[in-house]
Parts: sequence; structure tokens; C-alpha cells
Amino acid sequence: MASVIIAGVGAYAPERVLTNQDLAKMVDTSDEWIFSRSGIRERHIAADDEACSDLAIKSAMAALKDANMSAAEVDLLIVATATPDYTLPATACVVQHKLGVPPHATCFDIAAACSGFVYALEIAYGQLLTGRYKCALIIGAEKLSTIVDWSDRTTCVLFGDGAGSAVLKKVEQSGIGIIGSDLGADGELTEYLYTPAGGSRCPASAKTVADKGHFLKMKGKEIFKNAVRVMETVAREMVEQHNLRLDQIDLVIPHQANVRIVEALASNLGLPMDRFFMNIDRFGNTSSASIPIALDEARRSGRIKPGDLTLLVAFGAGFTYGSTLIRW
Ligand code: ACO
Repeated sequence: MASVIIAGVGAYAPERVLTNQDLAKMVDTSDEWIFSRSGIRERHIAADDEACSDLAIKSAMAALKDANMSAAEVDLLIVATATPDYTLPATACVVQHKLGVPPHATCFDIAAACSGFVYALEIAYGQLLTGRYKCALIIGAEKLSTIVDWSDRTTCVLFGDGAGSAVLKKVEQSGIGIIGSDLGADGELTEYLYTPAGGSRCPASAKTVADKGHFLKMKGKEIFKNAVRVMETVAREMVEQHNLRLDQIDLVIPHQANVRIVEALASNLGLPMDRFFMNIDRFGNTSSASIPIALDEARRSGRIKPGDLTLLVAFGAGFTYGSTLIRW
């Protein structure tokens, strides 16, 4: 029996750090409000000349190095992002060219917002198992600072820029690597979190710019409630499907949207907070990059050991959600 393993992970955060104190000089807010409501102290912000693909490439190089593999071996490249370099073509093609991934590779983006990385994992997992591809590079990369309204204190304090990558390959061994993956979406909730303008429904114009239609709009309280409910459901379903108990999961890596969402999730699942890997204090919400950045930190800091079970749980605009169970 074959398995698909995560052979390497890597992450990149832009150099510039924007603290809560910095934000308090830009909008009417405070470190105390932001930290107590979200768990965030600071976030990274990309330079003007750094696009989504630039962040993606740096994290991909780190993941390839970790896997001891080269870009020439990649035949499936997926970029999960809500902030692509262009609306057309895919950021994956920009990454392919600059990274040196060969022309025969399949390269595309997926738009599943904060669940993008677990969506990419499931797609790569399935494709590698069929034998159609040999090595997948999946990337979650975001320059959210370009779609945040920096004069709106209800959203601008929450988000950051960054990228995380994983290299996946098939091995002839059973019971390791990705042992479960489940995805879903509830399209009824699309307008809870979205950017109204710039697409075909409301194309860019002087009016859409004047109306700030290209910036992210969010119903924070509704997202909060749905995030807790959905992440609890997918976590329970995943362990039940594999005849496990929740307390057998060594580490949960949740999408880093708000520490209070994760605290509510932990409480509902009956697990202690130290079973959840958190780094939102230093990164904010980096959407599709949040889980791979956390996964990279968890591995490097020794929080994941051989044989451990890790559960990734995500939710995001769409309203998308998903979970991945990994045996290391
Ligand atoms: N600084 C100071 N005051 C603020 C700020 C701020 N940055 N933002 C809002 N306030 C004020 C509000 O105006 C409100 O004032 P009022 O009572 O006078 O009207 C008060 O603080 C309380 O605001 P609430 O919206 O009730 O605050 P809440 O406790 O719900 O927290 C938050 C807001 C942090 C946004 C929370 O609802 C949340 O985290 N929701 C989930 C958001 C999320 O996860 N988004 C992304 C998910 S998907 C993805 O990751 C892309």
C-alpha cells in the first residue's frame, strides 16, 4: 500500500513588522483591544515591490531544501491564494518560471481563501496516489495588505502577509503521511467575507475605487460563530472516520484567524489549549499561508515528532472548510 508524505515544509515572512502600537497611530485602536479580542501583537507586511509570487517562491525554496529536492523534480505546482499577482494568469505559472519548475509540470491556483492550503493538500494527495504525478509543491501565499482597508479598524488589525509551502511525494509504505482529508463549503455565506469589486460582477472602475470596493468586507461576529461550529464538526468527523479519539491527536494546527476562535474550539472539543499550535501573536491572519507557516514552525520547534498525529483544521471565505490528518 502506498502513502503520500510531506517530505519538506518551508515558510517566509516579509521583513517589515507592523505592531499593534504602529496600528494605534494609524486608526483609533490600541494594543490592549487588538490583543484581547484576537491574540495578535504584530504582523508582517510585504514591501511594495514584493508580490504574492515573491513570497511564495521564498517559502517554496525553503520547503524544497527541507525535502532535499530540486524544483526540477516538481511536476504538480498549486498556489492557494486570495491575493494573486494578477487576476490572469495564475500565480502558480509565475512561480513555476522563476523557481525553475519544468515546462511539463501542471501549474494552477486555487481560490479557497483561508482553507486554500488544506484544499491544495487534498488535491495533491489524490493526484499523487493515482501515480499521475511524482512530486507536488503546494504553496499558501498571501499579500493581504493589498486588499485591507487601512482606515477600517474593524478589519485592518487582523491580517498579515506571508507564505508557506510543502513538498509532497508518494512512498511505498502504508499508514504514514496524509491518512485522511476532508473538504467542504457553504456557498450561502459568501458575503460574510468578500471583496465586492474587481471581479466580473462589479468590474474595476473609478467608482469602485472611490467606494473602496476592492477592500475586504467582513461580518466578524457571524464568521466567529460559524468558524467555531465548522471546525469542531470537521475535527470530530475526521477522528471518528479513523476510529480515533480526539485525545489521541498530538497536535492540532488550526487556521490562525483569532485566538478566541481556537479557545472556543478547544473548549468545545474538550482539549487543552497546549494541544493547539498558535503563532497568531506574531503573524496575524495570513489566510491560506497561516497553516503552512504554523506547520513549519511546529516542526522546527520540535512540536512534531516521528509517529505523531497532527490534525490541520481550516475555515475561510466561501465559506470553505476542511481538515487533514497526518501521521509523521
Ligand atoms: N479597535 C478598537 N475598537 C474596535 C476595533 C479596533 N480595532 N474594531 C472594532 N472595535 C469596536 C467596535 O466598533 C465596537 O464598538 P461599539 O460597541 O461602540 O459598536 C466594539 O469594538 C466591539 O466590536 P465587536 O465587533 O463586537 O468586537 P468582537 O468582540 O466581535 O471582535 C473581531 C471583533 C475580532 C473581528 C471578531 O468578531 C472576530 O475575530 N471575528 C472573526 C474574524 C475572522 O476570523 N475573520 C477572518 C476569517 S476567514 C479568514 O481567515 C480570511
